[in-house]
Amino acid sequence: MIVCSCNVFSDTQVRDACASTAGVTSPGQVYRCLGCSPQCGRCARTIRAILDEVQAHSCAECPTVCPAASLSTRMLAAE
Ligand code: FES
Repeated sequence: MIVCSCNVFSDTQVRDACASTAGVTSPGQVYRCLGCSPQCGRCARTIRAILDEVQAHSCAECPTVCPAASLSTRMLAAE
């Protein structure tokens, strides 16, 4: 599905950018990763939702490897 009609990229490309580049956590980083920049900005919320979904999914599948998950574990242990 096309997510950004201005730059013509899909949700699959957003997911691939997340998977192939560590630290992609914002729509701005996705644009840069895909070699473009925001034009109208209408897609930013959708990109944000995809990023949240990818991050939640990856942490559920790799709780001992995901840096975000291990950080959460350390923070809970410190409390
Ligand atoms: S739809 Fe993505 S910048 Fe316009």
